[in-house]
Amino acid sequence: KKTQVCIIGSGPAGLLLSQLLHNEGISSIIVDRQSRSRIEERVRAGVLEWGSVEALEDAGIGERMHREGLPHSGFDLAFDGDLHRIDLTALVDKRVMVYGQTEVTIDLIARRLKQGCEIIFSAEEVQPIDVKSDAPKVRYTKDGETVEITCDYIAGCDGFHGVSRQTIPQDILKTFERVYPFGWMGVLVEKPPVSDELIYANHQRGFALCSMRSPTRSRYYVQCPTTDKVEDWSDARFWDELAVRIGPQVAANLETGDSFEKSIAPLRSFVAEPMRFGNLFLCGDAAHIVPPTGAKGLNLAIADVRILSRGLIEHYKRAQDAYLEAYSQTCLKRVWKVERFSWYMSTMLHQFPEFSGFEKRMQRAEFDYLAGSEAASQALAENYVGLPLEM
Ligand code: FAD
Ligand code: DHB
Repeated sequence: KKTQVCIIGSGPAGLLLSQLLHNEGISSIIVDRQSRSRIEERVRAGVLEWGSVEALEDAGIGERMHREGLPHSGFDLAFDGDLHRIDLTALVDKRVMVYGQTEVTIDLIARRLKQGCEIIFSAEEVQPIDVKSDAPKVRYTKDGETVEITCDYIAGCDGFHGVSRQTIPQDILKTFERVYPFGWMGVLVEKPPVSDELIYANHQRGFALCSMRSPTRSRYYVQCPTTDKVEDWSDARFWDELAVRIGPQVAANLETGDSFEKSIAPLRSFVAEPMRFGNLFLCGDAAHIVPPTGAKGLNLAIADVRILSRGLIEHYKRAQDAYLEAYSQTCLKRVWKVERFSWYMSTMLHQFPEFSGFEKRMQRAEFDYLAGSEAASQALAENYVGLPLEM
């Protein structure tokens, strides 16, 4: 097989890249090791920056998002029961959109297949080869047959556990990592959300987040030890814990029920540099991970892909490689700022087992500073709605 850009990974990064390239007449094939149904069932992120909303719109797949998505113009921070609203519209004149990553992925897969894009699901032993040459290949096995796709460029959009990053030699790849000593236990429930807006809460018993997927479907998270298993969390235990952490005032409106999705996610900060090796480009979780506090993982993946598509379009349409040459540098500059914000939000809002009284007072002082300072709230809001692609 032959194509211009071979994309490893059919998550939001790979799919959106394929769509943006297709819209400019550039061909791509996507290879993923999972089945379509597994990919479409994964429950992950829920908040889109407005830049991401516009990117999906521009790519021509914004129709259902605008019909079903919920624009939010603010959210609450809570600290031991005290509330401070971050008014995004008043502070930075922007909003965010609550629309699940699951829906973004479903919309993109449907559109790509309808337009005739080849997506190879359930591929085994996927491997980028000859990435330093000008005819790199992606090899995979399916139904016992081994296939090679020859291309000009490979986009490694295969997430944190993918193969793309691993093909970069160890003496070239630098990695930076911080693993947090807790995880997030998340549930989905078919009940209206406790509040019209998201609530991020720090409580002595740990972090909690009230989010949603629609006016009738809620998504809640509580901080838990990394050693916990989903089975340790009965619905009853989850609701009791959530109610304590969000405080009696908010909990008075909490509608509980049988959860239909439960999972525990670890929290990690991770960056790999550079994001390009030869004709292999890394995008999204393949290159970096942020802890979920602040909802940046998906948005960062979308930003990478916007930057890469611009470079590839310049290459194919105008034989200009300046954007492509600058890809890694342009992305990393923004990636580190978003890493900083996610680390800051995570540090302010969680209970760290190793924190002394001093650090706990620092967290409270941070909250009080935000609550009393428009400048501080504005800085937080500017990051939450999304930094520009280049600044
Ligand atoms: P992915 O969505 O991970 O897609 C990678 C694709 O590559 C997958 O389809 C995978 O099957 C495929 N793949 C992997 N290995 C191979 C291989 N060897 N060969 C071929 N294909 C391969 N972010 C938030 O902002 N908020 C959240 O609440 C949140 N929750 C999360 C919960 C979980 C459990 C996880 C894992 C992530 C969560 N994130 C969250 C992060 C966010 O979902 C990611 O940042 C986003 O999915 C990144 O998109 P991506 O396309 O780069 O990678
Ligand atoms: C969701 C996840 C986040 O990490 C976040 O900051 C906000 C919302 C969610 O899954 O709804």
